[in-house]
Amino acid sequence: MEYLTIAVPKGRPYGETVRLLRAAGLAGAELEEDESRSLLIECPAERTRFIIARDSDVPTYVEYGAADLGIAGKNVLMEAEPKVYELLDLGYSFCRFVLAAPAASDPRRLLDGTSLRRVATKYPRMTEAYFRSKGIQVETIYLHGSIEVAPKVGLADMIVDITETGRTLRENNLVVIEELWTSSMRLIANRASYRLKAERIGPLIQRLRDLVGQTGSPAPYQ
Ligand code: PRP
Repeated sequence: MEYLTIAVPKGRPYGETVRLLRAAGLAGAELEEDESRSLLIECPAERTRFIIARDSDVPTYVEYGAADLGIAGKNVLMEAEPKVYELLDLGYSFCRFVLAAPAASDPRRLLDGTSLRRVATKYPRMTEAYFRSKGIQVETIYLHGSIEVAPKVGLADMIVDITETGRTLRENNLVVIEELWTSSMRLIANRASYRLKAERIGPLIQRLRDLVGQTGSPAPYQ
């Protein structure tokens, strides 16, 4: 049987991703629950190998076929709109996209459109789409991380970011002005692999679906 290559995200969802992959019989002890520094891990018994990637890079590995499958947050997929199939909502790492501002600010004034406001975010495309839909012109400041510090130091008036426990917002004196979207981890597939490795991928989707308790047929992302 051919090897199946799966891109998995580092960071917060890593441990749960590994547990799910092991429970589905896709990975053995070689894929440890703690992140290793080895970024390409082979599980010969399962005929799988894993690319350990930054979460925002997972769709790229899958779109270009370096990985057959990937596990990526919906937040990342919404921003990048990769040409991949989204097969399954895996239901963990649930988080919310929010528009947030300093607790002391007046949200109505921030959004009244009288002056050009700056919004810091890791999600510029989604942020611009949101404000466009509201008819409000803003300046989007793209940052790679630690978004919550931007209003504190005068870099931005507001932020658009994801929040899971709410702790980072709280500890940086930010309050949610509006909840924009929700996100959780998704199983994605390279379009060619989905067809060429259907015999392998089909049962695997079913196994994962049984484990995460979902029904229904795969819905291609695009
Ligand atoms: C994410 C997000 C928030 C934080 C929210 O950042 O961008 O900063 O998690 O989580 P919480 O609501 O549980 O506090 P991440 O931890 O990925 O780090 P980053 O800021 O370096 O991107």
